[in-house]
Amino acid sequence: MAVSSVFRPGLFNHKVAIVTGGGTGIGKAISEELLELGCSVVISSRKADRLEAAAQEMSQKIPASSPASVTPLLCNIRNEDEVKELMSSALKRYGRIDFLVNNGGGQFSSPAEHMSSKGWKAVIDTNLTGTFHCCQQVYSAWMKLHGGVIVNIIADMWKGFPGMAHTGAARAAVDNLTKTLAIEWAASGVRVNSVAPGTIFSKTAMENYKEMGPTLFKMSVPFSPAKRLGVPEEISSAVCFLLSPAASYISGDTLKVDAGQSLYHSMWEIPSHSAWPEAPEGENLDALKDLLKPQSKL
Ligand code: ADE
Repeated sequence: MAVSSVFRPGLFNHKVAIVTGGGTGIGKAISEELLELGCSVVISSRKADRLEAAAQEMSQKIPASSPASVTPLLCNIRNEDEVKELMSSALKRYGRIDFLVNNGGGQFSSPAEHMSSKGWKAVIDTNLTGTFHCCQQVYSAWMKLHGGVIVNIIADMWKGFPGMAHTGAARAAVDNLTKTLAIEWAASGVRVNSVAPGTIFSKTAMENYKEMGPTLFKMSVPFSPAKRLGVPEEISSAVCFLLSPAASYISGDTLKVDAGQSLYHSMWEIPSHSAWPEAPEGENLDALKDLLKPQSKL
């Protein structure tokens, strides 16, 4: 569902962006809005077929009068050499890299208790280390000498992320990385910010959670103050704002785009229990426990 950008046509004419995970979901919406605003976009992911198809679809929508073009480049962001290659190929193709949007990532739902070490490491490796590789390589290849803007896409993990401990930890780390890089790279004219989406509906996200997808999305609606899910275009507009000169004095910050979801209830149910610590010696908490225990049915 491509919605026309609210930003000025031609706002990003002759700029160049790299969007990881740019062929699907939120990344695709970001790439499409950038293209609409005149920015050339390198879309990158690990999956060749989907990436090529997305690039084909996007390039057909670019008007002949636009200076923009789209280039698909394969890259596994976990691999530092592939990320280096991504930056040098983008520079070979376009001669500059103004924007980097770190959107590529992935996770699966599992209680922490049952998460394998392999699964944990894979999610940390993609969502945290992959983002670090992209930031470090775009900086050394281009932004150190020419400036630029980086936007990291993180998640609503502000109250922990029960059911997805790995991605919660990785995204919180990226929130912190955002602040560090904003300071370390300020003198190069590089701004670094994050966007933290609430629950966003996309076909790819639905497929990622397999048979649990429809239930997960349906269950989350009452937990949104907006009483609806977000759409990728609502993340894209926030990213375009942060990339634009309208945000020229914003760096090191994270913009929550969640309709207030992070301020509201948690979806995680805690069963009734009385697993309290032992009372300190000499004290008896039985009366208090009795008072606070869930009312039995009358
Ligand atoms: N999207 C999900 N995992 C990825 C990876 N390892 N590299 C690039 N994009 C990804």
